[in-house]
Amino acid sequence: MGFMKRVRNILRYGVGDQARARKRADKRAGKAQRFESERWARDGDFARRRYDSYDEYIQHQASKLAGVADRLRETETRDFDQFLERFSACRPLAEMRSVLCLGARLGTEVRALHRLGHFAVGIDVNPGDENPYVLPGDFHGLVFPDGSVDAVFTNALDHVFDLERMIGETKRVLRPGGILLAEFELGFGEGHVPGDFEATHWKNADVLMEQIRQIGGFTVEEIVDLGNTRRGQRRQVVFRRPS
Ligand SMILES: C[S@@+](CC[C@H](N)C(=O)[O-])C[C@H]1O[C@@H](n2cnc3c(N)ncnc32)[C@H](O)[C@@H]1O
Repeated sequence: MGFMKRVRNILRYGVGDQARARKRADKRAGKAQRFESERWARDGDFARRRYDSYDEYIQHQASKLAGVADRLRETETRDFDQFLERFSACRPLAEMRSVLCLGARLGTEVRALHRLGHFAVGIDVNPGDENPYVLPGDFHGLVFPDGSVDAVFTNALDHVFDLERMIGETKRVLRPGGILLAEFELGFGEGHVPGDFEATHWKNADVLMEQIRQIGGFTVEEIVDLGNTRRGQRRQVVFRRPS
């Protein structure tokens, strides 16, 4: 965080634990207000951020990296360790050799998968400059051939423009018997408030899970409650493409 921003925060919230709690509450109230605004359209059990065009969606998503670069530097080691811990605990993943990571940003999850011995690569609309782990790409249209990967990992479902297309592409590139390992927040009906870059949101985690299962023709193999993480209450689900 820059010096002036730090000073502004101290003047506004004070210092110490109570100040941090006040800042979090303020941030949450702002997000809740924006979620109720005209920027989101409710559609049954889902909510979608309004974009005037697909191009606007892509530009918006690609613009996120610049704003989180400082924070990423601070949380990098912890994020890597947490990926490593969760991936090591996922037994179906251990049987998979190649893993494609969708919405992988700078590639922290890709590096964790390498550490565990997988062949892994990510794609992202904005992987930053000269990123050896993540290729530029859009997860609504993957360049990889049908049935070419053992597993897909994503924690970017809340950044999807069209869930049907994204899960359709995931299914297409997965080999029969392959898995989709997905991590996602609980829904707006469960107290989660989406932030400024989320493009899709769901009423609750079960609704999203069922939608993915149906679109992909997957079976649900494992559900893990990840508890309260930096990104709120989260769930990890293993979907399998039938052989
Ligand atoms: C919540 S971040 C997750 C980043 C990373 N997986 C991590 O845990 O550090 C979501 C990422 O999805 C990317 N993204 C958004 N829309 C995308 C799209 N259509 N195709 C590929 N990546 C996209 C964003 O650029 C962002 O890096």
